[in-house]
Amino acid sequence: MMDYSPLFASRTFFQTYRPSKEVPYDFQVADPDPSYFPTEHILEAAGKALSERGREVAVYPEPMGDEELRQVISERTKSLEDISVPIDQIIIISGSTQGLCLVADTFIEPGDTVITEQYTYPGTLRAFNRCSPKIVDISLDENGMDTEKLAETLEDLRKRKIQPKFIYTITNFQNPTGAVMSLKRRRNLLSLARDYNTPIFEDDVYGDLIYEGEPVPPIYSLAGGEGVIKLGSFSKIIGAGMRIGWLITPTPIIPKMLTIKADSGVNSFSMMVVAEYVRKHMHDRLEEMRGIYRAKRDAMLEALDDYLGDSTEWSHPRGGLFIWLKIPIKVDPDKLLSTALEKGVNYYPGPKFSPRNEGKEYLRLAYSNYGHEDIRKGVKLLAEAMNKTRT
Ligand SMILES: Cc1ncc(COP(=O)(O)O)c(C=O)c1O
Repeated sequence: MMDYSPLFASRTFFQTYRPSKEVPYDFQVADPDPSYFPTEHILEAAGKALSERGREVAVYPEPMGDEELRQVISERTKSLEDISVPIDQIIIISGSTQGLCLVADTFIEPGDTVITEQYTYPGTLRAFNRCSPKIVDISLDENGMDTEKLAETLEDLRKRKIQPKFIYTITNFQNPTGAVMSLKRRRNLLSLARDYNTPIFEDDVYGDLIYEGEPVPPIYSLAGGEGVIKLGSFSKIIGAGMRIGWLITPTPIIPKMLTIKADSGVNSFSMMVVAEYVRKHMHDRLEEMRGIYRAKRDAMLEALDDYLGDSTEWSHPRGGLFIWLKIPIKVDPDKLLSTALEKGVNYYPGPKFSPRNEGKEYLRLAYSNYGHEDIRKGVKLLAEAMNKTRT
């Protein structure tokens, strides 16, 4: 047998988290609910796309992605976010994950500094860590990244002659905390980013899933596009398996990004189908999915109230797919996960969201993937696991 271990690149040793076996109530996974996949409409869109443009699938796609889809995204951005973006600043990517990797590959040399929120999407940490950066994390609360802390950090880095490569933030319904960055903080962040000549990388894959209140303008639009890279995705609205996302990017970055986008293009068939589908159905689909996920959120909040009651704190997100829960002091977080798994319920432990592996007093519950009854049953089992591990 060949021994591969001395051959692997160091970046393959970054740990990711997967449960070892399937569990009946897996609140770790934030997949969209498969029962609402729009099969009929996708079939119709695929038929139309293939009969009108099928031959295009025979050849390699445009490096920036299907022009029709970029047009659709530009129109979508104008109507939902009131930003006018020319299509030559839109790059289609294989899910926003590819955008996380592309931005990392474009800017990070090993040892470079990048800034994130204190808790952030583990896929982002994975994408960035491939490039071996130093990740400096900034605390956040229900109004998003603490821009006073950010100001101190940027000043400290400047004194040490360290130029951060970018500031990454998930502005809407942050993964994992559910926070929405306030308008004031968005403005502060923008002004700091300009003062310190540091681009902002705005990940907005959850902005469409707003259940109440008014949307806050994206940093991209506050900036008039200058100095901000914005990331979007159809994964949560249409289906994660379509693997279609997009980057809106300042023009000088595009040639650099295309040099390292070594994938020979995004799947043409998927791009055409999504373009066709979005043009016809996006408005109704957004309404439908907001209603469905709002009700799931409410089911989980109600179950948490009923089964965990007074002793525990959790977030009340106005959108998105997650609840961020603080484990009570008397519950042993080191024993909680294995006890929960024994009972058949899984969650995402706090440290997996932290660049420094901190936050074991937190966990994230995703409510997207289960029906209301299962959400209740799973939360009840979690409550039992907490009681069992209480000291
Ligand atoms: C904040 C954030 N960004 C990006 C992604 C990646 O999504 P996709 O690659 O499916 O577009 C996710 C997925 O959960 C996410 O939570």
